[in-house]
Amino acid sequence: MKCILLISALLPVAAGAIEADAKRGADLFTRYHCTYCHSVAGGPGKPGAAPDLGQRLDRAYSPAGIASRMWNHAPKMWAAMKQSDIDIPAMSEADASDLFAFFYSTRYFERRGDAARGKAVFYDKNCVLCHALNGPQKPAREWKSLADPIDLVSAMWNHAGEMQTATKAEQFRWPQLSAAQLTDLLVYLQNLPETRHMQFGFNLPNGDRGKALMEEKGCTSCHKGAMALETLMGNLTLTEVAAGMWNHAPKMRQKAKPVTSAEMREILAYGWAQQFFRSNGNAVKGGKLFDVQCAACHNNPGSGAPSLAAGKRDFSSITMVAALWRHGPRMLSKLEADHKAWPELKPTDMANLIAYIDRQ
Ligand code: HEC
Ligand code: HEC
Ligand code: HEC
Ligand code: HEC
Repeated sequence: MKCILLISALLPVAAGAIEADAKRGADLFTRYHCTYCHSVAGGPGKPGAAPDLGQRLDRAYSPAGIASRMWNHAPKMWAAMKQSDIDIPAMSEADASDLFAFFYSTRYFERRGDAARGKAVFYDKNCVLCHALNGPQKPAREWKSLADPIDLVSAMWNHAGEMQTATKAEQFRWPQLSAAQLTDLLVYLQNLPETRHMQFGFNLPNGDRGKALMEEKGCTSCHKGAMALETLMGNLTLTEVAAGMWNHAPKMRQKAKPVTSAEMREILAYGWAQQFFRSNGNAVKGGKLFDVQCAACHNNPGSGAPSLAAGKRDFSSITMVAALWRHGPRMLSKLEADHKAWPELKPTDMANLIAYIDRQ
């Protein structure tokens, strides 16, 4: 961690150097006084002061979507923070990564599911035959993977072999699971009396071993060109990735080697996180928006705004959120001095701007 911080202070951040830990993010969320207003899934916070960040609403769930919500609400948040004598945090990129991991662990990015439908999936897809409380296999309520989406992906992959043997023995067809069905199933299993209060976790290493591991494990024998994992996983949540792994496991397992949970974390950190957090917006549209909303200051050295041009850095939703908290208040003062309004950005605007700045 220290090493990455040090390097990113000296050099442009290496592509994919996203290291994130939900536990550190949870600590920051308290240390930065976010909990002064926000609760998370009913935890500490001021009721009614700010949206509960653990509640699944019809939000834009992508990282760019969250960056845009924060961007739009920021002036109001800063005003409320000033009024309450709370310092506005000077957030580093490492901090912002940890906060995103924390949001991920609170299921902020996952689509909404339905427990009743999930229960039906558990029965209809025959999971109950082996995973009922008194079944022959580990009862679903004891699955470690319920608490960590990366463990789930890994479980879906690694137990596929054993399950396939068991399934064949009992003459089942390999059940296909859509991402929506898996989401429902998780909502059902995570809200049983035994699991309702479990702590969710989420952490990613920086993924520098991921690429080599994908070769070593045989993933790249199929996943290359248009099938490259970096491309396939770009817009998927981890539940969707887990469903994809499940459905294709019988075919894939014939050629690929077993993968430990730690190795899967590296692979996902490399193949998934980079794409998921980077947002694949449209750089041309982003450029047009930049010219209208941002260029007056950012292409004008006299304005005091830094240039965002020319390959200076790798830009993502994470970078944007860190920059927003670190530089936003001064940007707001400058706008107010110029009698200009804070630019509101829709999630697609945010994704497009990031694509534009990232690619310059
Ligand atoms: C003084 C109160 C206050 C503090 C402190 C505060 N916020 Fe907020 N935040 C708000 C309010 C109010 C909104 C919603 C504004 C609106 O709806 O217009 C909001 C909105 C958000 C949203 C968008 C929520 C959504 O789903 O629409 C995010 C994400 C967020 N805040 C993150 C943070 C983080 C991270 C921190 C700490 C660094 C923080 N907030 C500190 C008051 C606060
Ligand atoms: C024929 C028996 C059988 C059926 C049916 C079955 N499984 Fe399994 N499952 C297994 C076996 C065997 C294991 C590996 C047990 C172990 O290693 O502890 C396993 C393990 C798992 C794990 C990993 C558990 C952990 O420790 O985190 C998950 C997740 C899982 N199964 C999901 C499902 C789902 C979802 C269904 C229904 C679509 C299902 N299983 C149906 C036999 C089955
Ligand atoms: C024998 C060829 C093969 C091997 C080896 C293989 N895969 Fe796959 N994989 C596929 C196919 C085919 C799909 C389905 C793609 C689709 O639906 O478009 C797939 C789908 C996936 C998906 C889901 C993507 C989505 O769009 O839902 C993930 C994630 C994945 N593979 C990861 C891996 C990993 C990690 C490895 C190595 C440990 C691996 N695969 C090895 C053939 C393979
Ligand atoms: C009225 C002038 C002004 C406008 C318009 C403006 N900015 Fe800024 N921006 C600033 C200033 C001044 C700073 C530097 C603040 C500081 O030094 O703390 C800044 C800093 C930033 C940073 C942090 C840069 C870094 O080095 O990390 C980002 C990112 C940014 N702005 C993005 C935008 C985007 C995107 C837009 C258009 C939607 C925009 N700005 C519009 C004045 C402006």
